[in-house]
Amino acid sequence: MHPNKKSTFTGSLGFVLAAAGSAVGVGNIWRFPYLAAKDGGGLFLLIYLVLVLTFGFTLLTTDVAFGRRTKKNALQAFGSVRKEWSFLGWLTFLVPAIIMTYYSVIGGWILKYLAVYLTGGGDAASQDGYFTSFITAPVAPVVFTLLFLCFTALVVYRGVEKGIEKFSRIVMPGLLVLIVGIAIFSLTLRSGEAEAQRTGLEGLSVYLLPNFEGLTVSRFFEVLLDAMSQLFFSLSVSMGIMITYGSYVKDEVNLSQALSQIEIFDTLVAFLAGMMIIPAVYVFFGTEGMTSGPSLMFVSLPKVFQAMGGFGTLVGLAFFLMVAFAALTSSVSIMETLVANCMEIFHTSRRRMSGIIALLSAVCSVVICLGYNLFYFELTLPNGQAAQMLDLVDYISNSFLMPFISLLTCIFVGWVIKPEFISEEMEASGHPFRRKKMYRFMIRYVAPVMMAVLFVQSTGLLGAVLKLLG
Ligand code: PFF
Repeated sequence: MHPNKKSTFTGSLGFVLAAAGSAVGVGNIWRFPYLAAKDGGGLFLLIYLVLVLTFGFTLLTTDVAFGRRTKKNALQAFGSVRKEWSFLGWLTFLVPAIIMTYYSVIGGWILKYLAVYLTGGGDAASQDGYFTSFITAPVAPVVFTLLFLCFTALVVYRGVEKGIEKFSRIVMPGLLVLIVGIAIFSLTLRSGEAEAQRTGLEGLSVYLLPNFEGLTVSRFFEVLLDAMSQLFFSLSVSMGIMITYGSYVKDEVNLSQALSQIEIFDTLVAFLAGMMIIPAVYVFFGTEGMTSGPSLMFVSLPKVFQAMGGFGTLVGLAFFLMVAFAALTSSVSIMETLVANCMEIFHTSRRRMSGIIALLSAVCSVVICLGYNLFYFELTLPNGQAAQMLDLVDYISNSFLMPFISLLTCIFVGWVIKPEFISEEMEASGHPFRRKKMYRFMIRYVAPVMMAVLFVQSTGLLGAVLKLLG
């Protein structure tokens, strides 16, 4: 293939599945349920849903339509419309470059757990301290991280149509079936003595019913911000990825419809992941077990699988297989963005660039991996959380760069090139853009304000100001 020949998805479904593959990942299966558990179940769900339909829709529409209209990768898309804004392209390029390094480390952890369940070692994985001793080891996490990177690079190397699209077409429907299966199984669980028995269905009500107990304005605000940053990460917006994927979409595809499908798919998987994890954790550990936060997937869940008896190993295996696929389709989208951008800059072939990017990512990932061993340090982030190297890079990309890029993108689209630039593209295929008025209002007024708030909050500035005000 000529290096500069533009790749495309074969049609709407291919695009939807590949974009959904990028969106559905560790964020949906691990982060969403833990946030929902922490933030009062139904209340979080409700807020998240409203945000997806308004805010998520606005950002996703902007990225994809902008990509298709300019037919350029993120790096050049902004500059091709307004020269003075090309810096924004470079800024968006930074995010996948940073995310790639730590996402493959988490991917490596997932592969490790998959291997453990595959070899019948589920019991060992459920022991206290297992996870920590694994990630702090000098060699094993590095090996699994590199393995995960190899898989990712292989799919990217094969290109858009034969690699990404084909892979997503098989994996995404399979993932949905698996997740529905485990979720139903979760609801049938029960444990404890007869009088203090907890059931999966009770767990479901903990998940679904809003818990307004002790709700204050500041607590509401906290839930809102949690939901918003989750939305970003989950939809893979504001990091150039959806701009790149948008540039691969053929002109005749009905974008409105395709985007709605992506939103629905992403939200559905997150919702089902909650339905699969929260009732199970509730049955075995009660409501206290749900506050374990980030360790939910690697520490609490193996205990749940073990408590299920012999069958638990099988469920554990299915679960980690599914998470591995979800993580892989996401990391493929991250690497694809890096490769596609660099192909344009350096005018080289996909093959060559995939190799170079994979190598560079490998070096950086190993450094991050050793952040729990050789390069261990701990510092306090501006928002007060303690962080190691992985948390630090995660913070820089998600809490700092992403809201900032979104804010600038909203200003750029809403006020510089004007929302019509996007809505014309949405209607270019001859299909209606039903949420046009809402889009205009959101991109000009609501989204920039929300982004600014998110930005000052996550940088710790908001907390500092509130403290000053007493
Ligand atoms: N959206 C993915 C998830 O929810 O896990 C994560 C992700 C993919 C983040 C691609 C960033 C990205 F560029």
